[in-house]
Amino acid sequence: MKRFRGLWHGLAALMLFSSVAGAADIVIGFLVKQPEEQWFQLEWKFADMAGKDFGFEVIKIGVPDGEKTLAAIDNIAANGAQGFVICTPDVKLGPAIVAGARANNLKVLAVDDRFVGADGKDMESVHYLGISAYKIGQEVGKTLMEQMAKRNWDIKDVGLCLVTFDELPTIQDRTDGARDMCIEMGFPESQVYRAPVMQRMEIPTALDATNTLLTRYPNVKHWLIAGGNDSCVLGAVRAMEGRGIAVADAIGVGINGTDCVPELEKANPTSFYGSILLSAREHGYLTSEMMYKWIKDGVEPPLDTRTVGKLITRDTFRRILKDEGITE
Ligand code: GLA
Repeated sequence: MKRFRGLWHGLAALMLFSSVAGAADIVIGFLVKQPEEQWFQLEWKFADMAGKDFGFEVIKIGVPDGEKTLAAIDNIAANGAQGFVICTPDVKLGPAIVAGARANNLKVLAVDDRFVGADGKDMESVHYLGISAYKIGQEVGKTLMEQMAKRNWDIKDVGLCLVTFDELPTIQDRTDGARDMCIEMGFPESQVYRAPVMQRMEIPTALDATNTLLTRYPNVKHWLIAGGNDSCVLGAVRAMEGRGIAVADAIGVGINGTDCVPELEKANPTSFYGSILLSAREHGYLTSEMMYKWIKDGVEPPLDTRTVGKLITRDTFRRILKDEGITE
């Protein structure tokens, strides 16, 4: 009996060892530009989930600038990675990232922000998964116009505040889509005002950009707010509150649906009406799965995959986030 138990323990240890060795067989990197943003935390969470389901390891590194990005690529290669998924801190780093990947014999898949080449065009030869940016922007515009219609505002007193970041094509497409849809639905083009954020899309940079705009247009009574992502719209909402604009006099609709959860949970409503929830699961899980299968079985991912979004508001976010696996 004793001997039998010993044999059994030996077998169990062997099984454990082989499963650990199996897990380490394939290693991928998952590099993101703004690890402090909830969106990217969730991409990492879903990447880990894929790693667990398929049995590969994910090395997660925050890459806020070019230097850290190139160092991270060397680092993951030294740690046994065979490929990586990346949301670059600057799309113009595309050619340098591809060169770094090649030098280290790593496969690369861009997520969220598509690489731009030296000629200023999208690097279409690099595999990419991102959102249908213009369409999602249009959904923001439609929601804003529908909400505006519910409040008897005199249209001549309304401004559309667009919190822009044109350095990043996926963001420019979003704010263009929102603007175009508002105009298509009857909003006067001359009342569209841009608040460009500097360097990074964060609540403080969006707040500053909106403050500058509000100083220039003190006579606007009611505001519609669209922006590149939740942080842009949250910054604008905070700026408006700071200027004493009443909650009911502004309507903000974000994009991501992940960084605005504390805002929607607030006991009293703010001007942040809702957000277009993107699929963090597809951006984190699916990209990692694609990378894993590419490495393991040579299955090349599609060159261009686009994901969609759905509106969440104070009334619906709890249920939808739960259904999407974002919250428990
Ligand atoms: C960009 C934004 C993120 C998020 C992703 C979605 O990277 O900076 O906040 O919206 O796109 O693809």
